[in-house]
Amino acid sequence: MTDYAARRARLAAQMPPGAVAVLPTAPEVLRNGDSDYPYRHDSNFHYLTGFGEPESVLVLVAALGDRPARAILFCREKNREREIWDGYRYGPEAARTAFGMDEAWPIAELDTRLPDLLANVPALYYATASNAALDAQVQGWIKALRARSRSGVTAPSAFHDLIPLLDEMRLIKDADELATMQRAGDISGRAHARAMRAARPGLHEYALEAELLYDFRRHGAQFPAYTPIVASGPNACVLHYNVNDRPMQDGELVLIDAGCELDGYASDITRTFPVNGRFSPAQRKLYELVLAAQDAAFAAIAPGRPYSAFHEAALRVLVQGMLDFKLIPAGRFATVEDAIAAKAHVSFYMHGTGHWLGMDVHDAGAYRDLTHPDKPSRALAPGMVLTVEPGIYVRPAEGVPEEYWHIGIRIEDDVVVTEDGCRILTSAAPKAIEEIEALVGTGA
Ligand code: GLY
Ligand code: MN
Ligand code: MN
Repeated sequence: MTDYAARRARLAAQMPPGAVAVLPTAPEVLRNGDSDYPYRHDSNFHYLTGFGEPESVLVLVAALGDRPARAILFCREKNREREIWDGYRYGPEAARTAFGMDEAWPIAELDTRLPDLLANVPALYYATASNAALDAQVQGWIKALRARSRSGVTAPSAFHDLIPLLDEMRLIKDADELATMQRAGDISGRAHARAMRAARPGLHEYALEAELLYDFRRHGAQFPAYTPIVASGPNACVLHYNVNDRPMQDGELVLIDAGCELDGYASDITRTFPVNGRFSPAQRKLYELVLAAQDAAFAAIAPGRPYSAFHEAALRVLVQGMLDFKLIPAGRFATVEDAIAAKAHVSFYMHGTGHWLGMDVHDAGAYRDLTHPDKPSRALAPGMVLTVEPGIYVRPAEGVPEEYWHIGIRIEDDVVVTEDGCRILTSAAPKAIEEIEALVGTGA
């Protein structure tokens, strides 16, 4: 069981005595006509509450003297009519008990209660300058308080961005979070295996997307964590391709970047495999290179190592391969380091090797040590979760051997930093060449 109250207490303890934090959840968003996008809570709000209803705001009041910290939830009231149409809503009374809040009030009372909650408070924490509606609301509360200044009431005079505090908390995953992320990795990994079994020449990319989405959902995942990429042949060289409507051809690779979101946590997996189940010699060479780059990256992940090390390790392997396979003209560069310094690799490898992963697919947390004047790459620590996703993308170009044209390969796994290295959360997705060749086309 996730201890949301403990998270709230840890956040409140980082604020000055009596300071207040205000954190709304995400709004519902109209897609078209009367149809909304599927509702997804705000990650930070959910991290602190576990409460999934829209139109909710968390207010945290830090301890002051012998007055303990308080958590106050604003949420929708019970409404018989709306519940017939849209389903159950807790209402403040039930929400207070179920979610361990000290107080809960109807959301309709937010603008009348907030000025009182902010009266004589030294500092307000919220997501500054990131949401025009919230900025305007804060201004309204402050104006209401200033109007009372003749009676001696003071408005907060310090305004702090709440988000960096939450970013740092979210960066280190606890045991509950890691268990959920392992389950998300298992579901997504098995869905990739299913897509491999279903693949065959002539099938459209969307047919594989359908296999993935079906498998995510039937195992309880609520959403895909991001729009799946199913990119066959030349489409694999388009990094954010997601139209997924091309018939896959015999002899091509297909690159699938897809992961489910389970109970608010993302997984993020890429696999690349031959549509007909057999790697060509050129495909095999590049695939083995990307696998070797990923292994080098894994070996560079351990507590105390800088975040940048795993990218640098993968890059060195990839660039050596680019030189060996004459993608980069070897004569021009004496060493791998020279080629990297000249950015000779960027036509074939133009993205970083990973990112934080958690509630968001590109998750919260600084990548650099912001407390240091030089802002160096930050040190890894146990409980951090990141993706490791080297790749190579070869577009037709003069001087590039034709056998590699249109090959795009990425291999992406999710790992958690452990006490002595890292643990892969997504090993359910097949990756070895023999394993893939034995699986592709055997039927979903
Ligand atoms: N699927 C998004 C990414 O790999 O960053
Ligand atoms: Mn990724
Ligand atoms: Mn990905």
